[in-house]
Amino acid sequence: MFAITGITGKVGGEVARNLLAAGQPVRAIVRDIRKGDAWAGRGCRLEQADINDEAALTSAFEGAEGVFVLVPPNFDPLPDFPEARATALRLRSALEAARPGRVVYLSTIGAQSSQSNLLTQHTIIEQALRDLPMPITFLRPGWFMENSSWDVAPARQNGVISSYLQPVDKPVPMVATADIGRVAAELLQETGKGRRVVELEGPRRVTPDMIGATFADLLGRPVRVEAVPRETWESIFKSQGMKNPLPRIQMLDGFNQGWIDFENGETGSRKGLVALETVLQQLIESESKS
Ligand SMILES: NC(=O)c1ccc[n+]([C@@H]2O[C@H](COP(=O)([O-])OP(=O)(O)OC[C@H]3O[C@@H](n4cnc5c(N)ncnc54)[C@H](OP(=O)(O)O)[C@@H]3O)[C@@H](O)[C@H]2O)c1
Repeated sequence: MFAITGITGKVGGEVARNLLAAGQPVRAIVRDIRKGDAWAGRGCRLEQADINDEAALTSAFEGAEGVFVLVPPNFDPLPDFPEARATALRLRSALEAARPGRVVYLSTIGAQSSQSNLLTQHTIIEQALRDLPMPITFLRPGWFMENSSWDVAPARQNGVISSYLQPVDKPVPMVATADIGRVAAELLQETGKGRRVVELEGPRRVTPDMIGATFADLLGRPVRVEAVPRETWESIFKSQGMKNPLPRIQMLDGFNQGWIDFENGETGSRKGLVALETVLQQLIESESKS
Protein backbone atom coordinates (compact mmCIF):
# COMPACT_ATOMS: atom_id res chain seq x y z
CA MET A 1 0.00 0.00 0.00
CA PHE A 2 1.18 3.50 -0.89
CA ALA A 3 0.39 6.52 1.30
CA ILE A 4 0.00 9.81 -0.58
CA THR A 5 0.04 13.31 0.92
CA GLY A 6 -1.24 16.30 -1.08
CA ILE A 7 -3.64 13.97 -2.89
CA THR A 8 -6.27 16.70 -3.37
CA GLY A 9 -3.67 18.83 -5.19
CA LYS A 10 -2.16 18.66 -8.65
CA VAL A 11 0.90 16.44 -8.19
CA GLY A 12 -0.44 14.21 -5.39
CA GLY A 13 -3.59 13.53 -7.42
CA GLU A 14 -1.49 12.46 -10.41
CA VAL A 15 0.64 10.18 -8.24
CA ALA A 16 -2.48 8.47 -6.88
CA ARG A 17 -4.12 8.13 -10.32
CA ASN A 18 -0.98 6.46 -11.69
CA LEU A 19 -0.71 4.05 -8.75
CA LEU A 20 -4.40 3.11 -8.97
CA ALA A 21 -4.03 2.57 -12.73
CA ALA A 22 -1.14 0.19 -11.93
CA GLY A 23 -3.44 -1.76 -9.61
CA GLN A 24 -1.72 -0.59 -6.43
CA PRO A 25 -3.63 0.08 -3.20
CA VAL A 26 -3.56 3.75 -2.15
CA ARG A 27 -4.04 5.41 1.21
CA ALA A 28 -5.27 8.99 0.71
CA ILE A 29 -3.90 11.38 3.33
CA VAL A 30 -6.12 14.47 3.52
CA ARG A 31 -6.28 17.34 5.97
CA ASP A 32 -10.03 17.69 5.58
CA ILE A 33 -11.76 14.30 5.55
CA ARG A 34 -14.69 15.62 3.46
CA LYS A 35 -12.25 16.34 0.64
CA GLY A 36 -11.38 12.64 0.47
CA ASP A 37 -14.79 11.44 -0.74
CA ALA A 38 -13.78 11.17 -4.39
CA TRP A 39 -10.71 9.12 -3.44
CA ALA A 40 -12.70 6.87 -1.10
CA GLY A 41 -15.04 6.30 -4.06
CA ARG A 42 -12.06 5.02 -6.03
CA GLY A 43 -11.22 2.50 -3.34
CA CYS A 44 -8.62 4.45 -1.33
CA ARG A 45 -8.50 4.23 2.44
CA LEU A 46 -8.70 7.72 3.95
CA GLU A 47 -6.44 9.07 6.70
CA GLN A 48 -6.70 12.56 8.11
CA ALA A 49 -3.42 14.36 8.83
CA ASP A 50 -2.15 17.90 8.66
CA ILE A 51 1.45 18.15 7.43
CA ASN A 52 2.38 19.56 10.84
CA ASP A 53 0.63 16.90 12.94
CA GLU A 54 3.39 14.43 13.76
CA ALA A 55 1.19 11.85 15.49
CA ALA A 56 -1.42 11.81 12.70
CA LEU A 57 1.31 11.60 10.05
CA THR A 58 2.97 8.69 11.88
CA SER A 59 -0.24 6.71 11.93
CA ALA A 60 -0.99 7.63 8.28
CA PHE A 61 2.49 6.41 7.18
CA GLU A 62 2.48 3.16 9.21
CA GLY A 63 2.52 -0.07 7.21
CA ALA A 64 3.09 1.69 3.88
CA GLU A 65 5.30 0.14 1.24
CA GLY A 66 6.01 3.66 0.06
CA VAL A 67 5.12 7.21 1.11
CA PHE A 68 4.84 10.22 -1.18
CA VAL A 69 5.58 13.37 0.81
CA LEU A 70 4.42 16.74 -0.52
CA VAL A 71 4.81 19.83 1.64
CA PRO A 72 2.23 22.48 0.66
CA PRO A 73 3.69 25.60 -0.92
CA ASN A 74 4.40 28.60 1.30
CA PHE A 75 5.05 31.66 -0.89
CA ASP A 76 5.35 34.07 2.04
CA PRO A 77 7.52 32.42 4.72
CA LEU A 78 8.87 34.22 7.78
CA PRO A 79 12.55 35.25 7.65
CA ASP A 80 14.90 32.23 8.03
CA PHE A 81 12.06 29.80 7.24
CA PRO A 82 10.92 28.70 10.72
CA GLU A 83 7.81 27.05 9.22
CA ALA A 84 9.86 24.77 6.96
CA ARG A 85 12.28 23.96 9.81
CA ALA A 86 9.39 22.88 12.05
CA THR A 87 7.74 20.84 9.27
CA ALA A 88 11.08 19.16 8.51
CA LEU A 89 11.53 17.98 12.11
CA ARG A 90 7.95 16.69 12.39
CA LEU A 91 8.19 14.85 9.09
CA ARG A 92 11.48 13.25 10.04
CA SER A 93 10.13 12.09 13.39
CA ALA A 94 6.95 10.70 11.81
CA LEU A 95 8.88 8.79 9.13
CA GLU A 96 11.40 7.49 11.69
CA ALA A 97 8.58 6.21 13.88
CA ALA A 98 6.39 4.78 11.10
CA ARG A 99 9.26 3.18 9.10
CA PRO A 100 7.58 2.90 5.68
CA GLY A 101 9.44 0.81 3.08
CA ARG A 102 10.59 3.85 1.08
CA VAL A 103 9.93 7.56 0.63
CA VAL A 104 9.63 9.87 -2.36
CA TYR A 105 9.88 13.52 -1.32
CA LEU A 106 8.67 16.17 -3.79
CA SER A 107 11.48 18.73 -3.73
CA THR A 108 12.42 21.26 -6.39
CA ILE A 109 14.91 22.27 -9.03
CA GLY A 110 17.69 24.20 -7.31
CA ALA A 111 17.36 22.51 -3.90
CA GLN A 112 21.16 22.11 -3.93
CA SER A 113 21.72 25.88 -4.08
CA SER A 114 23.47 27.49 -1.11
CA GLN A 115 22.00 30.92 -1.98
CA SER A 116 18.94 31.72 0.10
CA ASN A 117 15.61 31.97 -1.73
CA LEU A 118 12.05 30.66 -1.55
CA LEU A 119 13.21 27.17 -2.55
CA THR A 120 15.52 27.02 0.49
CA GLN A 121 12.47 25.59 2.26
CA HIS A 122 13.00 22.38 0.28
CA THR A 123 16.77 22.47 0.94
CA ILE A 124 16.00 22.53 4.68
CA ILE A 125 13.56 19.61 4.44
CA GLU A 126 15.86 17.54 2.21
CA GLN A 127 18.65 17.99 4.77
CA ALA A 128 16.39 16.85 7.59
CA LEU A 129 15.26 13.73 5.69
CA ARG A 130 18.53 12.71 4.02
CA ASP A 131 19.72 10.39 6.78
CA LEU A 132 16.48 8.51 7.33
CA PRO A 133 17.00 4.75 7.64
CA MET A 134 14.78 3.83 4.67
CA PRO A 135 15.52 4.43 0.96
CA ILE A 136 14.57 7.98 -0.04
CA THR A 137 14.27 9.72 -3.41
CA PHE A 138 14.36 13.49 -3.68
CA LEU A 139 12.35 14.25 -6.82
CA ARG A 140 13.38 17.69 -8.06
CA PRO A 141 11.07 18.95 -10.82
CA GLY A 142 11.51 22.14 -12.82
CA TRP A 143 9.09 25.09 -12.92
CA PHE A 144 5.53 23.74 -13.21
CA MET A 145 3.91 24.46 -16.60
CA GLU A 146 0.67 24.80 -14.62
CA ASN A 147 2.03 28.04 -13.12
CA SER A 148 0.70 29.53 -16.38
CA SER A 149 -2.85 29.13 -15.06
CA TRP A 150 -2.57 32.82 -14.03
CA ASP A 151 -1.85 33.77 -17.64
CA VAL A 152 -5.00 32.32 -19.20
CA ALA A 153 -7.40 35.17 -18.39
CA PRO A 154 -5.00 38.01 -19.36
CA ALA A 155 -4.00 36.19 -22.56
CA ARG A 156 -7.61 35.63 -23.54
CA GLN A 157 -8.93 39.05 -22.49
CA ASN A 158 -6.07 41.47 -23.24
CA GLY A 159 -3.60 39.53 -25.35
CA VAL A 160 -0.81 40.39 -22.89
CA ILE A 161 0.84 38.23 -20.25
CA SER A 162 3.30 39.42 -17.61
CA SER A 163 6.51 37.54 -16.98
CA TYR A 164 8.79 37.55 -13.96
CA LEU A 165 10.97 35.04 -15.79
CA GLN A 166 13.28 37.15 -17.90
CA PRO A 167 14.70 37.81 -20.39
CA VAL A 168 11.59 36.48 -22.07
CA ASP A 169 13.61 34.55 -24.65
CA LYS A 170 15.61 32.63 -22.00
CA PRO A 171 14.78 28.89 -21.86
CA VAL A 172 13.66 27.60 -18.46
CA PRO A 173 13.38 23.95 -17.34
CA MET A 174 9.62 23.42 -17.02
CA VAL A 175 7.53 20.29 -16.53
CA ALA A 176 3.88 19.24 -16.48
CA THR A 177 2.45 17.99 -13.18
CA ALA A 178 1.18 14.92 -15.11
CA ASP A 179 4.82 13.98 -15.77
CA ILE A 180 5.81 14.59 -12.14
CA GLY A 181 3.00 12.38 -10.84
CA ARG A 182 3.75 9.62 -13.33
CA VAL A 183 7.46 9.60 -12.49
CA ALA A 184 6.81 9.80 -8.74
CA ALA A 185 4.51 6.78 -8.98
CA GLU A 186 7.22 4.86 -10.85
CA LEU A 187 9.87 5.81 -8.29
CA LEU A 188 7.60 4.73 -5.43
CA GLN A 189 7.31 1.26 -6.95
CA GLU A 190 11.06 0.82 -7.52
CA THR A 191 13.05 -1.13 -4.98
CA GLY A 192 16.51 0.15 -4.22
CA LYS A 193 18.69 1.25 -1.37
CA GLY A 194 19.92 4.55 0.00
CA ARG A 195 19.36 8.07 -1.15
CA ARG A 196 18.99 9.37 -4.69
CA VAL A 197 18.14 12.61 -6.47
CA VAL A 198 16.00 12.60 -9.63
CA GLU A 199 15.86 15.86 -11.59
CA LEU A 200 12.88 16.12 -13.95
CA GLU A 201 11.92 18.49 -16.75
CA GLY A 202 9.66 18.41 -19.80
CA PRO A 203 10.55 17.27 -23.32
CA ARG A 204 12.12 20.66 -24.17
CA ARG A 205 12.97 23.86 -22.32
CA VAL A 206 10.42 26.66 -22.47
CA THR A 207 10.85 30.44 -22.83
CA PRO A 208 8.17 32.90 -21.70
CA ASP A 209 7.96 33.95 -25.37
CA MET A 210 7.04 30.34 -26.25
CA ILE A 211 4.26 30.45 -23.66
CA GLY A 212 2.87 33.60 -25.31
CA ALA A 213 3.14 32.09 -28.81
CA THR A 214 1.45 28.86 -27.69
CA PHE A 215 -1.42 30.78 -26.07
CA ALA A 216 -1.75 32.78 -29.31
CA ASP A 217 -2.05 29.56 -31.35
CA LEU A 218 -4.53 27.98 -28.95
CA LEU A 219 -6.68 31.08 -28.42
CA GLY A 220 -6.51 32.25 -32.04
CA ARG A 221 -5.45 35.78 -31.11
CA PRO A 222 -2.13 37.63 -30.77
CA VAL A 223 -0.55 37.34 -27.31
CA ARG A 224 2.41 39.49 -26.24
CA VAL A 225 4.71 38.74 -23.30
CA GLU A 226 5.83 41.67 -21.13
CA ALA A 227 8.69 41.46 -18.65
CA VAL A 228 7.63 42.97 -15.31
CA PRO A 229 10.37 45.49 -14.36
CA ARG A 230 12.51 44.09 -11.52
CA GLU A 231 12.29 47.34 -9.49
CA THR A 232 8.48 47.01 -9.26
CA TRP A 233 8.38 43.41 -7.92
CA GLU A 234 8.58 44.26 -4.22
CA SER A 235 5.71 46.74 -4.32
CA ILE A 236 3.60 44.41 -6.50
CA PHE A 237 4.11 41.45 -4.15
CA LYS A 238 3.38 43.61 -1.10
CA SER A 239 0.22 44.93 -2.74
CA GLN A 240 -0.82 41.28 -3.18
CA GLY A 241 -0.57 40.86 0.61
CA MET A 242 2.90 39.35 0.97
CA LYS A 243 4.71 40.34 4.18
CA ASN A 244 8.14 39.00 3.24
CA PRO A 245 8.55 39.15 -0.56
CA LEU A 246 12.37 38.84 -0.47
CA PRO A 247 12.58 35.01 -0.77
CA ARG A 248 10.25 35.02 -3.79
CA ILE A 249 12.28 37.81 -5.43
CA GLN A 250 15.50 35.89 -4.71
CA MET A 251 13.99 32.76 -6.31
CA LEU A 252 13.05 34.66 -9.46
CA ASP A 253 16.55 36.19 -9.54
CA GLY A 254 17.94 32.66 -9.24
CA PHE A 255 16.04 31.44 -12.29
CA ASN A 256 16.82 34.59 -14.26
CA GLN A 257 20.53 34.67 -13.33
CA GLY A 258 20.89 30.92 -13.82
CA TRP A 259 21.98 29.89 -10.31
CA ILE A 260 18.72 27.98 -9.88
CA ASP A 261 19.08 25.08 -12.29
CA PHE A 262 19.56 21.34 -12.16
CA GLU A 263 22.60 20.09 -10.29
CA ASN A 264 23.42 17.80 -13.23
CA GLY A 265 22.42 20.22 -15.98
CA GLU A 266 20.11 19.56 -18.91
CA THR A 267 21.98 16.41 -19.94
CA GLY A 268 21.58 14.84 -16.48
CA SER A 269 17.85 15.43 -16.05
CA ARG A 270 15.11 12.90 -16.70
CA LYS A 271 12.74 14.09 -19.45
CA GLY A 272 8.96 14.09 -19.26
CA LEU A 273 6.57 13.44 -22.13
CA VAL A 274 3.92 16.15 -21.83
CA ALA A 275 4.31 19.19 -24.10
CA LEU A 276 3.59 22.79 -23.10
CA GLU A 277 0.75 22.95 -25.64
CA THR A 278 -1.09 20.08 -23.92
CA VAL A 279 -0.91 21.78 -20.52
CA LEU A 280 -1.96 25.21 -21.81
CA GLN A 281 -4.91 23.66 -23.67
CA GLN A 282 -6.04 21.99 -20.42
CA LEU A 283 -5.66 25.28 -18.51
CA ILE A 284 -7.73 27.11 -21.14
CA GLU A 285 -10.45 24.44 -20.95
CA SER A 286 -10.60 24.50 -17.15
CA GLU A 287 -10.72 28.33 -17.11
CA SER A 288 -13.65 28.23 -19.57
CA LYS A 289 -15.56 25.90 -17.23
CA SER A 290 -14.94 28.01 -14.10
N1 LIG B 1 4.96 25.48 -8.74
C1 LIG B 1 6.18 25.14 -9.11
O1 LIG B 1 6.70 25.61 -10.13
C2 LIG B 1 6.96 24.16 -8.28
C3 LIG B 1 8.23 23.74 -8.72
C4 LIG B 1 8.94 22.79 -7.95
C5 LIG B 1 8.39 22.30 -6.77
N2 LIG B 1 7.15 22.73 -6.38
C6 LIG B 1 6.60 22.20 -5.13
O2 LIG B 1 5.43 21.45 -5.43
C7 LIG B 1 4.59 21.46 -4.26
C8 LIG B 1 3.20 21.89 -4.66
O3 LIG B 1 2.60 20.86 -5.42
P1 LIG B 1 1.14 21.06 -6.07
O4 LIG B 1 1.20 22.17 -7.07
O5 LIG B 1 0.65 19.75 -6.48
O6 LIG B 1 0.33 21.60 -4.82
P2 LIG B 1 -1.21 22.06 -4.79
O7 LIG B 1 -1.92 21.67 -6.05
O8 LIG B 1 -1.20 23.48 -4.35
O9 LIG B 1 -1.79 21.13 -3.61
C9 LIG B 1 -1.35 21.30 -2.30
C10 LIG B 1 -1.79 20.08 -1.53
O10 LIG B 1 -1.34 20.22 -0.18
C11 LIG B 1 -2.47 20.06 0.69
N3 LIG B 1 -2.28 20.86 1.90
C12 LIG B 1 -2.35 22.20 2.02
N4 LIG B 1 -2.10 22.55 3.29
C13 LIG B 1 -1.92 21.41 3.99
C14 LIG B 1 -1.64 21.12 5.34
N5 LIG B 1 -1.50 22.09 6.26
N6 LIG B 1 -1.46 19.82 5.70
C15 LIG B 1 -1.61 18.82 4.79
N7 LIG B 1 -1.87 19.04 3.49
C16 LIG B 1 -2.02 20.32 3.09
C17 LIG B 1 -3.66 20.51 -0.12
O11 LIG B 1 -4.82 20.00 0.47
P3 LIG B 1 -6.22 20.83 0.49
O12 LIG B 1 -6.94 20.39 -0.76
O13 LIG B 1 -6.87 20.40 1.74
O14 LIG B 1 -5.86 22.28 0.45
C18 LIG B 1 -3.31 19.90 -1.47
O15 LIG B 1 -3.62 18.54 -1.49
C19 LIG B 1 5.23 22.42 -3.27
O16 LIG B 1 5.99 21.70 -2.33
C20 LIG B 1 6.10 23.26 -4.17
O17 LIG B 1 7.18 23.88 -3.49
C21 LIG B 1 6.43 23.64 -7.11
